[in-house]
Amino acid sequence: MGVMRILGIETSCDETAVGIVEDGTRLLSNTVLSSMNLHAAYGGVVPEIAARSHIEAIIPVINQSLRDAFPDFHGLDFHGLTPEMDKLWSNIDGIAVTHGAGLGGSLLIGVLTARTLAIVKKKPLYAINHVEAHIYANFLTETPLQGPTLQRSKKTPITPLQGGTLQDYKLPSVAPEFPLLGLIVSGGHSQLVFWRDHFDYTLLGQTQDDALGEAFDKVAKILGLPYPGGPSISKKAQEGNPHAYKLPKSKMADKYDFSFSGVKTAVLRLAQAEIGEDFSFPSYKLSDRLSEVQKADIAASFQQIAIETMVDKTLQAYEEFQPKSVVIGGGVAASSELRRQLAERLPLPIQYTDPRLCTDNGAMIATLGCFKAMKEQPQADPYTLDIDPNLSM
Ligand code: KG4
Ligand code: ZN
Repeated sequence: MGVMRILGIETSCDETAVGIVEDGTRLLSNTVLSSMNLHAAYGGVVPEIAARSHIEAIIPVINQSLRDAFPDFHGLDFHGLTPEMDKLWSNIDGIAVTHGAGLGGSLLIGVLTARTLAIVKKKPLYAINHVEAHIYANFLTETPLQGPTLQRSKKTPITPLQGGTLQDYKLPSVAPEFPLLGLIVSGGHSQLVFWRDHFDYTLLGQTQDDALGEAFDKVAKILGLPYPGGPSISKKAQEGNPHAYKLPKSKMADKYDFSFSGVKTAVLRLAQAEIGEDFSFPSYKLSDRLSEVQKADIAASFQQIAIETMVDKTLQAYEEFQPKSVVIGGGVAASSELRRQLAERLPLPIQYTDPRLCTDNGAMIATLGCFKAMKEQPQADPYTLDIDPNLSM
């Protein structure tokens, strides 16, 4: 078998993202256009706005990703779905697309686009579980060999947020090994999964309410810190004392399950108490009354305990299942506090991937697509593939 190149499409939330990956190990392009700026004013992703943005962005982002992956073609003037684009498409062996979990309207744009392209370009189609793909981002260990030519074309119609060249990506030096323990922590998901091999996994536990990233986002809102909350809490926490306040750790019936709504409410009550008000004081008025020191101490104490909860479970699962690798994925995997606590407590070193591959991206979808193609997993029917907003692992 020759090389396997897959184009991955991701539109489950607010990022219109396309990546191209070779053999499940080599990153050829990772193009992301986020509609985050449009949602920031609302303090969270507005599904209708996200879906409309995907409609506008999907074809330009796909074309950009193809140009980025095959820079030799930059001299030619490609625009839209012209016959010339077929020259770039001839390098692609299949299409992978997120069909769940995610926002229905957003998923629909990616899935319908992928189905249409699979039919028109006559490529096999692979349906990808977004959460599973977050872990697969860690299998990317190589960038293309011909570095300098990877400068992006000057006449690109959109500006990829993921600026720089692929050579700037800090990738793990070796791919993870099975058995593998995966910790997925994003805005929508918090799950602990044990993989015996590719496509052979067990969900050990998951959050019973808020995802870890979601809890960061909500606490940030209480403290008046900008959305998304993960990075802004991390930043504020640097000025604070993580032991200033004692916040509760949830106790769950199932040992690998977790919950973050309790600690979020505890933060709310703490903030109300700090300014001398009771539980009826509105949360949106809190940030004006809290001092910068109080905000920093609450951010640091919350971050410390929320991450410690995840690390406790990860360590417990490590001891029970003795995996060869532990891998983290999802937006919160970019957290330096999570990385610090894992390094301190886990007996084996963890390899991390570039933060641009931790948050939602098309390359992780393409990577899992490559393994599906290489391991001869079932293809999706381009005439019938449906979205699955509540898809679980
Ligand atoms: O994986 P992702 O991009 O989207 C989902 O699938 O949800 O994750 C987004 C989440 C947000 O909740 C954001 O607050 C969090 O990841 N996040 C972080 C950091 N960067 C992003 N949380 C903690 N520390 C960070 N540096
Ligand atoms: Zn995600």
